[in-house]
Order: sequence, then C-alpha cells, then structure tokens
Amino acid sequence: MKTRITELFGIEHPILLPGMSWVAEPEIAAAVSEAGGLGILACGHLLPEQTREAIEKVRSLTDKPFGVGLTLLYPTARQNAQIVAELEVPVVNFSLGKGEWLAPMIHQYGGKVIATVINEKHAFAAQRNGADALLVTGHEAAAHGGDVTSLVLIPALANKVDIPIVATGGFGNGQGLLAALSLGAEAVAMGSRFAASKESPVHERTKQAIMDKSAPDTIYTDRFDGINCRVMKTPGAEKSIAIGESVPKNQLAGHAMNAFKSLSLAIHDGDLDEGVQLIGQVQGLIDDVPSCADIIKRVMNEVEQTLSRINGLMEAD
Ligand SMILES: Cc1cc2nc3c(=O)[nH]c(=O)nc-3n(C[C@H](O)[C@H](O)[C@H](O)COP(=O)(O)O)c2cc1C
Repeated sequence: MKTRITELFGIEHPILLPGMSWVAEPEIAAAVSEAGGLGILACGHLLPEQTREAIEKVRSLTDKPFGVGLTLLYPTARQNAQIVAELEVPVVNFSLGKGEWLAPMIHQYGGKVIATVINEKHAFAAQRNGADALLVTGHEAAAHGGDVTSLVLIPALANKVDIPIVATGGFGNGQGLLAALSLGAEAVAMGSRFAASKESPVHERTKQAIMDKSAPDTIYTDRFDGINCRVMKTPGAEKSIAIGESVPKNQLAGHAMNAFKSLSLAIHDGDLDEGVQLIGQVQGLIDDVPSCADIIKRVMNEVEQTLSRINGLMEAD
C-alpha cells in the first residue's frame, strides 16, 4: 500500500509502533521496522547515553527505517535530541511539548518529524513549526489521548491540515486501519496491540490481563500523572488514583514520579495489585500475543478481506 506516510518514511506498510516508554525498546522497534512498518523507539525516559546505546542497538538489528520518540516533558529531552541528530535517526516523533526547536535540527540532516497532537490548536502549531506529519491521538488511546474520539478527531483535522496524519487510539486490526484511511489518515499507530506482542517486554501476567479485559475496563483520569491519561482498570490503578485524589492539582506533576514506579511494576513485574498499566480501549479486541510480523501480516490481510466485503456490498442491488 502506498500513502503519503509510507512515502515520507520509506516503509512498506502504513503501520507504526508508537514510542511507548519502557515498552518500545530496541528489539520490538526493530521487529516492527523489519516487518515493513515503522518502529519508534521510546527514548523520552532514557538518559542521553542510554539513548545512544538504544539507537545503536536498533541499528544492529535492522537496516530498515525507524524512529525515536521524545517525550518533551522529561528533563533530558534536549540532550536526547542532540544525540538523535548526531546519529541521524530517520524519523523523530515528539509528544507532550511544543518542539518548535526540533524540526530545524532534524531537517538539517534530512530526518522527518512527526508531532503527537490531540486537538486542532496543537495540530496547527505543529504544522507551522515544521512537522512533516501528525500523530493524531483520539480519546480511546492508551495514555494521553484527548477529549475527542478518533472517529471524529481524525476527519476534523484531516480536512484542515496539509501534512499527512497517522491515526492512533483504538486501532488494532485491519478494519481499524481501513477505517482510519477512510477518515483521512494515511497510517495507524498501534500501541496497545503491539504491547501485547511476542517481542514486547511487557510481563506475561500483564499481557494475559490485556487479553482478559474488555473494552470498558479502562479508567481515563488526570489523577494518575497529572494529565488526562487512560490506564487499565485494576486494583493498582484504583489505589494510585485514590492517592492522586488527595494530591493538590498543582502538585500532581511531582506525583508523576510515583506514577513511573507504578508503571514499572505493571510492565516489568506483572504486578497489577500495586502497578498501573497504560492501555487503550482497544484491549477489548486483543485476545492473543503474536509476533509483530504476524500482527502486521494479519492487519494487511484483514484490510484486503474487509475491502472485498465492502466492494461486495457496493455491487449488491
Ligand atoms: C504501555 C504504554 C506506554 C506508552 N508510553 C507513551 C509515551 O511514553 N509517550 C507517548 O507519547 N505515548 C505513550 N503511549 C501512548 C501511545 O503512544 C499511543 O498514543 C497509544 O498507545 C495509542 O492508543 P492505542 O493503545 O489504542 O493504540 C503509551 C502507550 C502504552 C500502551
């Protein structure tokens, strides 16, 4: 399939692994890129030297295009960006910050910039500041989705911006990819779906919980890390939010340090009694743990099957 996104990033399939902290590690990022998608290595939470090592590790595993994700809220974001530029990483995705300084730095060596946005104001600002594409995040998403669902947010923005859109939030299969394309996006990023893949470092117990939980089993709250955020509905999440509720709003950002600990417990220890797992509503559509290559193959097959089903409907009298 050819879209402005596949052309921009030089990839075969319009499918991205988003830069999920502690999940989008070198092995899984390389697996998605090797399979013809774009793996985005999460570097936001890493120290500069760890960022260098992680990028070099991806390069040792694949010679296909890949990206890095920089969460600008983290204190090392600018230092990490310097390393990304020095190593000439092909694609840079930034989130949770303005990033107006980033595009000139990345364009200098021919890299591409994709800005994560949740509304029109952020989308216009990112386009003005030189982003080459947008990662538009709907309400269904794991972590920091906006107020508006993907179904409405994607076409609302696609009609107004000139740069191509990658849709994220609620996409986990071929029907979803086809829907995103219909809405005006030119690729999807699948966070929760790849978090439950063979190459994902998420603990087996937490992967099992993703398969067991249904679509409504999530909580969307600003009382976890201070920003509206979607997490899996578990005892650990309910405890963490109860503590957050007693933290004054202006101190919630400090509370985010506790949030890191909770995230690590869920991802690395499979502890959902104390830990918190970021997850999207699409968990309700996930019931297996295939390899990244199998996920991508399956999604592209589902696109073809769904298209022929719809063509059949069009042809019927
Ligand atoms: C475990 C996990 C960790 C995440 N960490 C980050 C992060 O560090 N930075 C970021 O911009 N988005 C992060 N996200 C959100 C994803 O980038 C993406 O927006 C989201 O997964 C899309 O929704 P979906 O899960 O329905 O595909 C994370 C998502 C998950 C599931």
